[in-house]
Amino acid sequence: MSTQPDDVLLEVKGLRTHFTTDTGEVRAVNGADLTLRRGRTLCVVGESGCGKSVTARSILQLVERPGRVVGGQVLLHRRGPGGAAETVDLAALGPRDRRIRQVRGRDIAMVFQEPMASLSLVHRVGNQIGEAIRVHNRVSRAEARRRSVELLGRVGIPAPERIVDAYPFQLSGGMRQRVMIAMALSCEPELLIADEPTTALDVTTQAQILDLLADLQDSRGMAMLFITHDMGVVAEIADDVAVMYLGSVVEQGAVDGVFHAPRHPYTRALLESVPRMGAPRRERLPAIRGSVPDPAHQPSGCVFRDRCDHAMPGRCDTTVPPPVSLADGRRVRCLLYGGDAPAGHADPADPAHQFRPDPAGASARRADEEAADAD
Ligand SMILES: Nc1ncnc2c1ncn2[C@@H]1O[C@H](COP(=O)(O)OP(=O)(O)OP(=O)(O)O)[C@@H](O)[C@H]1O
Ligand SMILES: [Mg+2]
Repeated sequence: MSTQPDDVLLEVKGLRTHFTTDTGEVRAVNGADLTLRRGRTLCVVGESGCGKSVTARSILQLVERPGRVVGGQVLLHRRGPGGAAETVDLAALGPRDRRIRQVRGRDIAMVFQEPMASLSLVHRVGNQIGEAIRVHNRVSRAEARRRSVELLGRVGIPAPERIVDAYPFQLSGGMRQRVMIAMALSCEPELLIADEPTTALDVTTQAQILDLLADLQDSRGMAMLFITHDMGVVAEIADDVAVMYLGSVVEQGAVDGVFHAPRHPYTRALLESVPRMGAPRRERLPAIRGSVPDPAHQPSGCVFRDRCDHAMPGRCDTTVPPPVSLADGRRVRCLLYGGDAPAGHADPADPAHQFRPDPAGASARRADEEAADAD
């Protein structure tokens, strides 16, 4: 992931979003860092509950109570009104600030897993898209309607001039998802955040929506932050991938590098728990041992240490791993890569080093072969 400064559209730095509950302070996002490049796709992966959705919502200040962004920065590098470059820290704006409302839809749009979360049941789809257009543009209702029909056509809806007058409940799940994408694209955002937008759809519709997003992205140079559980989808659409664990990003880098030579023990465990094409058929895939700690009661030091085969007693339980940049542009949060790791542990500068979690396992052999190829 070679990153030129001009290339960077959005930087999430040390983001913290907490929910204050009766049982304690839930640190749903706990120091997350992400870098999004212009026109590129960053996929965010990680087990359920690791903070992917809350991170996405925090970027746009859409976190619901009792949650709130309590720290960090969300730096949007955009062209200002006169065309001059400007940087806005979205985390510093209140959820109802006029400036964040301008960013929503115009600079950054979001689509959710469940289209009905952002579509109204009682308004025709054309009116809903038209309103989204008129929030940011001074155009007549007739012009907004004309653009709505055009957008519905662009997202592959047949007979858009008829569907523009339909209500969402008259449409199938795939059609609603397309309507939501049309609404998100209505103001030509520089970044589309998509939170598992295809999970609720059948496989064929899912493939169509992914193709559609790829086409739209190509034609508009739009960047995408795409949240998914599906590594097949990541392999298909991602330029970069970020792996989240318990509210922080433990590894981010170019997708080829991360998939072929995962550095963080969690990334490796996560990838090993996914079936691979062409792999010898095995009875069971390894599951990541243990379970994700309660985000309201997190362990000291590295929060993955209790599940990690490489944990170093006396270090991993006392020190929170800082983000470390590796030579290939990868960022990893793991003390194995601190440069001051004790002898016998990983040295990131040594290209021969790869994790060998299970030398007898087929997956370990495959990963090592691929890593050797990648190096
Ligand atoms: N309203 C809320 N009140 C308290 N805790 C919450 C609330 N919403 C989310 N959380 C907590 O925040 C953490 C992160 O949740 P989030 O929805 O971001 O996970 P996720 O990675 O998107 O998971 P999934 O893959 O299941 O969608 C979870 O531990 C969740 O319990
Ligand atoms: Mg989620």
